Amino acid sequence: MARIPKETVDQIIHHADIVEVVGDFVTLKRKGQNMWACCPFHHEKSPSFSVAPAKGLYKCFGCGKAGGVVQFIMDIEGTSYVEALKYLAKKYSIDIQEEEKTPEEQLVQNEKDSQFIVSNWAKDHYQKLLHETEEGESIGLSYLMQRGLNQTTIKTFELGYSLDQWDDLLKSAQKEGFEAKYLEKTGLTIIREDEQGKDSGRRYDRFRGRVMFPIHNVSGRVIGFGARTLKANDKTAKYLNSPESDIYHKSDVLYGLFQARQAIRTEEVCYLVEGYLDVLSLHQGGIKNVVASSGTSLTESQIRLIGRYTDNVTVLYDGDAAGIRASLRGIDMLLEGALNVRVVLFPDGDDPDSYIRKVGDQRFKDYLEKNSQDFITFKTRIVSQEAAHDPVKKAEAIREVLQSIAKVPDPIKRQVFLQQTSTTFSIDEQVLITEYNKLVKKDSQRAAPGQQGNSSGSGQSSGGSGASSRPYSAPTTNRQPPTTSLSPEEEAEMAMYGATSDELAAAGGSAADTDVEPVPDVLQASEREVVRLLLLYAAQPLTEEIAVAQYILGQLEETPIKTPIYADLMHLCRQELEEGRWPEVRTFIQHTRSDIRMMVSDLATEKYELSPNWSTHQIYVPREIDQLQQACDNAILRLNKVNVQNELSIRLEALRHPMDELALMETLHTIKLLKKMDDELGNMLGTVIPRGAN
Ligand code: CTP
Ligand code: MN
Repeated sequence: MARIPKETVDQIIHHADIVEVVGDFVTLKRKGQNMWACCPFHHEKSPSFSVAPAKGLYKCFGCGKAGGVVQFIMDIEGTSYVEALKYLAKKYSIDIQEEEKTPEEQLVQNEKDSQFIVSNWAKDHYQKLLHETEEGESIGLSYLMQRGLNQTTIKTFELGYSLDQWDDLLKSAQKEGFEAKYLEKTGLTIIREDEQGKDSGRRYDRFRGRVMFPIHNVSGRVIGFGARTLKANDKTAKYLNSPESDIYHKSDVLYGLFQARQAIRTEEVCYLVEGYLDVLSLHQGGIKNVVASSGTSLTESQIRLIGRYTDNVTVLYDGDAAGIRASLRGIDMLLEGALNVRVVLFPDGDDPDSYIRKVGDQRFKDYLEKNSQDFITFKTRIVSQEAAHDPVKKAEAIREVLQSIAKVPDPIKRQVFLQQTSTTFSIDEQVLITEYNKLVKKDSQRAAPGQQGNSSGSGQSSGGSGASSRPYSAPTTNRQPPTTSLSPEEEAEMAMYGATSDELAAAGGSAADTDVEPVPDVLQASEREVVRLLLLYAAQPLTEEIAVAQYILGQLEETPIKTPIYADLMHLCRQELEEGRWPEVRTFIQHTRSDIRMMVSDLATEKYELSPNWSTHQIYVPREIDQLQQACDNAILRLNKVNVQNELSIRLEALRHPMDELALMETLHTIKLLKKMDDELGNMLGTVIPRGAN
């Protein structure tokens, strides 16, 4: 039950451009009619996620996620249908006149929605405190000003302030009607324990007297907070952060990405820093393509997140040596993620924030230009310095560098690095290559048994995960066979072909689950084909008076559809037609039932996606449109035939059990009739031009 008026829903969907909406989350590249990217829903290294602008649909051929704009937001944010609509309304500045709701109702959506809503409210509350209270202004705001931040930056990042009291947020939230449970779940409040360590039922605010940094997800929703104390010698930590919740997973988040993503795309590089203040200062200085890992070491999913927007990362380090040594590992992970990594080191004692404030925007930019170096070069330099006069250390250092080189996916780059390393360490290149190959071989032997466990259960990962096993041959023979001879599209199509039969099986399984009698696969497939033609070509005329929709629905008026989802779709189509509209993919893709949306988008993408590479099918698509009459007749007759055969086998099965004479006579008579019908249908099918192998 959507609370947003139907007209508004239509308006939202009309305005929402799927390429724009999806483009906020991944960088799409056009190939043919469609746009492609690596799928944001599962881990992959070559793109099998496609967007069909003409149809307003997305589909991943790897993991099977598919749908329209609204479904995409639901999938990527895990929100309800209503919240997804609100997101799109906000993006396209469409006013939603919601029907009156009590705060209670506002919270009855789903868990995640409620947590998003309360976090967003808290962000507003903290902002208000920063700008509109005496304490906020004199303590919070003046601190931020003193750190050199201007109003624009403060507003862009929605910074706020929490009062130095035990329960300001708690009380205000209760006044607004928010349930305590969601304050708890998002970590905004903490339950006070009594002396025995038991829940006393009393709560207090987690963040008190701190500057608040809201943490946004990629689409700009607040999912958590970082909070800096303002007391010089506070006993508590300098920064407090929200705990993990349903909407906040530390390891999946990069601070500032929402504000940076556009610039990352246009600048084609992402600057990676450590702290909140680094992000803010650089952004304010005009370097907007900057994100922070927020004090934790870099995770694999953060790397994947960057990879959605660019292949190039520049890591900005503050200059202390221990810190550098510690982060080398994290950078190896960036390499494995197939990113090009560069490094900029700042003078000892400075971090990006303090340095840009010291030298100014322009000199800072120049500094980045002049001092960025390739990561492997950088690492080589560091470890070779450490090992300067110690041969044992030197061997170890070389091995360390070789480990990193092995993680570089590009063979040409690997070669360049090997040459470079041989120069830096003044070691004969051939010796180095031999050493490299030994190391890679050992690595792959070690990696092999563990690898199955690594592929995270989905079984869909598109190869290349053994990044540590790249053998190297001498430059002259450096023609490695390509790991796969298929293009991404071809791979995607292979995946799709694998998926369709699975989907069919899955659909059969779910029908059986709901103790209705199971629908045989052939019958399901025949029903699917009828529904597909109905949906895709509803308005196409067959004669002057009759279009596909009327024809199919008319012909099948008496035919019960056994697969529940197809029966529902037929019913919906009938309804549309009765109300004077053509049943259309575009309509159903917005349906409130997610199984309907999914099925419709599946049906709509199933065959037109085939590219010319599939030579056997090359002529198939045009023929279907040109010869709709045959396609419809074929599908209808086939469905009838399968139904008849189904009935037949039920009767034949019945014969094997004892029955009285009258029943036996009746059954035999029915069998005779059904056999005749089966033959007739067979003949009729024979006169319809066959449409290929199925
Ligand atoms: N951090 C944290 N918890 C801490 C300390 C640090 O989460 N107790 C995270 C914060 O995201 C912080 C980053 O690590 O921004 C870097 O820490 P640090 O270098 O200590 O802070 P700065 O960003 O330099 O902060 P400031 O300039 O405000 O002192
Ligand atoms: Mn700092």
